[in-house]
Amino acid sequence: MTPVSPTSSPDFVILRALLEHEGQYVSGNLLGEKLGMSRVSIWHHMEKLRRQGFGFETVRSRGYRLIRRPEGLNAILVAAHLGPRARSCRLTFLGEVDSTNDEAARLLAAGRPAPLTVLARRQTRGRGRLGRAWHSADNGNLYVSFAFRPRLEPGRMQTFTLWMGVNVCELIANFCGATPGLKWPNDLLFDARKAGGMLTEARIDADQIRDLVLGLGLNVNSPAGSWPGDLSRKAISLSEHVGSPLDINRFTAALIGRVLLAYDRFIDGEYRKTFADLWNRYDVLRGRPVTVLEGPQRQTGVALGIDDEGALLLRDERGRSRRFRAGEVTLEKRG
Ligand code: BTN
Repeated sequence: MTPVSPTSSPDFVILRALLEHEGQYVSGNLLGEKLGMSRVSIWHHMEKLRRQGFGFETVRSRGYRLIRRPEGLNAILVAAHLGPRARSCRLTFLGEVDSTNDEAARLLAAGRPAPLTVLARRQTRGRGRLGRAWHSADNGNLYVSFAFRPRLEPGRMQTFTLWMGVNVCELIANFCGATPGLKWPNDLLFDARKAGGMLTEARIDADQIRDLVLGLGLNVNSPAGSWPGDLSRKAISLSEHVGSPLDINRFTAALIGRVLLAYDRFIDGEYRKTFADLWNRYDVLRGRPVTVLEGPQRQTGVALGIDDEGALLLRDERGRSRRFRAGEVTLEKRG
């Protein structure tokens, strides 16, 4: 499928004008002037937008007023809600893709300018950490990847993912008033059920990161009962947690803005001022009994938080401090 860059289309310009004047009429003449088009061409674009699920009220002497938006993720609506920082980032929107992380890596390899964002309604080969599959049905959830060319030491990738995690939590807390938890290194949780996960992948040259792709799978609006098999116990969506659906297009636009800003703060070092406090605010492991699996190694103990490099610290049964750079953590029941 051909990637779509929504911000370059006339439909986007029309919709942005209507959203900026929400509740009011915008004349066909004004839209025509913006786009250098006749009123008849504008009318054709309005018909195209209607077929996507938009609804307009038309009054002959006044113009068009937006009265209905399509449900679900919509490229033009996401683009129309982007703030100034995010508008400079190229957005690729796909109905279906193997993996947004793979598509982002392909775009970088083809020399596209970074940062760039890839969004899809559905993935056929979505993947999570440790080679696991990521369930990626077209069910109201978000599959998005952000690609950068950061010139960082590879050792900083871990902290990068953790920093992005706290930013996603902050956004969710601000957007829907519900506070998720973070399970080191990359899980977003509500009540011990997974609401999202992050997968950071990089291509490394000598001792520098050449390309970096941050993939985020976030369960936004999937209804309870829509998960296959085991996932119905393990997964939860934001809408299920808060009890009502989210405006996924507005949310996605805010997410893109937040991630880009967080990237800037990471590169300029500003993140150091707030990172530790924010991590502690969302960390669900600190002070809890856990088991860490790292390859063949299995270690139980009490989680103590993270160090400067984003490694997980643990106090084992003999009171010794242990450090994990990678691994899979299970929260044990409180004793
Ligand atoms: C995990 O929790 O294991 C990480 C899951 C990451 C899933 C996202 S969905 C968008 C992006 N594309 C992928 O193939 N994976 C990430």
